[in-house]
Amino acid sequence: MVKPLRKAVLPVAGLGTRFLPATKAMPKEMLPVVDKPLIQYAVDEARAAGIDQFCMVTGRGKTALIDHFDIAFELEATLAERGKREALALLREEAMPPGSITTVRQQVPLGLGHAIWCARSFIGDDPFAILLPDDLVLSQMPCTAQLAKVYNETGGNVVAISEVPREQTNRYGILKTGKVEGDRVEVLGLVEKPKPEDAPSNFSIIGRYVLLPEVIPFLSRMEAGAGNEVQLTDAMAKMIGKMPFHGLKFEGQRFDCGDKAGFLEAQIAFSLVRPDLSPAVREFLKKYVTEQP
Ligand code: G1P
Repeated sequence: MVKPLRKAVLPVAGLGTRFLPATKAMPKEMLPVVDKPLIQYAVDEARAAGIDQFCMVTGRGKTALIDHFDIAFELEATLAERGKREALALLREEAMPPGSITTVRQQVPLGLGHAIWCARSFIGDDPFAILLPDDLVLSQMPCTAQLAKVYNETGGNVVAISEVPREQTNRYGILKTGKVEGDRVEVLGLVEKPKPEDAPSNFSIIGRYVLLPEVIPFLSRMEAGAGNEVQLTDAMAKMIGKMPFHGLKFEGQRFDCGDKAGFLEAQIAFSLVRPDLSPAVREFLKKYVTEQP
């Protein structure tokens, strides 16, 4: 019996410089796709995988994220008074049970590996998911639930992977692949942001992981990797061979919402699956695509 997956770590300390000035006074994870902030997509996805304990690794200027998951008492009272039942139901549906979100601060931006290490007390001896809120996945089964299924069957580490064009390997953690069984790929090696000519494959890690707590001692070494940062990928690589490790060619489409074009594409894709918006969006898209030079 593998230990049940109940915890998720959400690294949200990044500055969001690529979205300035929008992110000058607002965390980038509060940017909405259609009508929901990125952070809420991540939390909802994790909850759909049975996760009920969360740790946000925050930094300065991120209090809006904490407020977002609190009960907005005045707002709820006003909505109730005005009979806005639907809006009220929406807020209540998304409310988090008391004590289910904790935060730690990453005081200095030393990299993703360091951010996860900051959550080590929360992680303790348990398996945990990591969701990078910049990466948004549109799928039938929520991506973290797909990873959880593999974790439950293998008891090991699992990362969501997708193929990228060769020239983009220097933006991602890249796999050295072993045996392929259906959508599961055995991980034989991991390299963070290799040059295309050095990349062992074009399978990249996207921002969804289920890891065993054994990664923490490797992170504690604080070894600097690519970009002179403490890389999660390097610590994960040290676990290979010691326990099962798989990449999952997940079902769904990933949008890089840390990038402007990816963020805009996500707006379109997520609005097209909304019955209340899709007819209007289809209509105006046709107009822009056919009428604009
Ligand atoms: C991080 C990880 C990288 C992964 C990527 C997915 O990189 O370090 O391995 O492929 O997320 O989005 P970052 O985007 O923070 O540079």
